Amino acid sequence: MASHFVVLGFLIAITCSLALASDPSPLQDFCVADPSGPVLVNGFACKDSKLVTANDFSFSGLHMAGNTSNPVGSRVTPVNVAQIPGLNTLGISMVRIDFAPWGINPPHTHPRATEVLTVVEGTLEVGFITSNPENNLITKVLQKGDVFVFPKGLVHFQRNTGYGNTVAIAALSSQNPGVITVANAVFGSKPAIANDLLAKSFQTDTKTIDWIQSKF
Ligand SMILES: *[C@@H]1O[C@H](CO)[C@@H](O)[C@H](O)[C@H]1NC(C)=O
Repeated sequence: MASHFVVLGFLIAITCSLALASDPSPLQDFCVADPSGPVLVNGFACKDSKLVTANDFSFSGLHMAGNTSNPVGSRVTPVNVAQIPGLNTLGISMVRIDFAPWGINPPHTHPRATEVLTVVEGTLEVGFITSNPENNLITKVLQKGDVFVFPKGLVHFQRNTGYGNTVAIAALSSQNPGVITVANAVFGSKPAIANDLLAKSFQTDTKTIDWIQSKF
């Protein structure tokens, strides 16, 4: 009998951990974000449903190329709860990513979302790294129409390996996936992480760390 309770407890624990592993489930048709709402919750307070319109569920302009004239040669155009308030509590969002020839989307992670990406124009090298201790690189070159998954939380990157522009569209399993760009977080934090700490972490000297930090 006692073992039944152990099994039951285990199943409840598994169920609860799965339920908590994504954005909160909606308990009504929608909860259109009211960013000016005075109540602080995990997400945004709901706008009065009688005042909701189609525009709360809509965004225009994703056909427009992002400006890739920057040091990495790529541009992410986000379409999440900040652009579409109707995404609040729904656990989904999307992005358009433009790449100049040989442009990259540097190694980064989304703390709250799995990402599924498709190439709509051009060629794209993609990859993610599995967690410690293996740190295996899973990588592939995608062509137009190919789809690739970046599992939640894992560090990943993209690079246009062609001679024309590349365009990708991706869906993410959060209304607000978040982005942590590894280089910017580690070398560009405010205030900076101590250079001797980073020198030991990267098995190098403080001069090299100072030089990299100066780039961020
Ligand atoms: C793209 O960004 C660059 C650098 O910020 C800027 O000089 C240029 O005017 C922008 N181009 C367009 C079309 O907005």
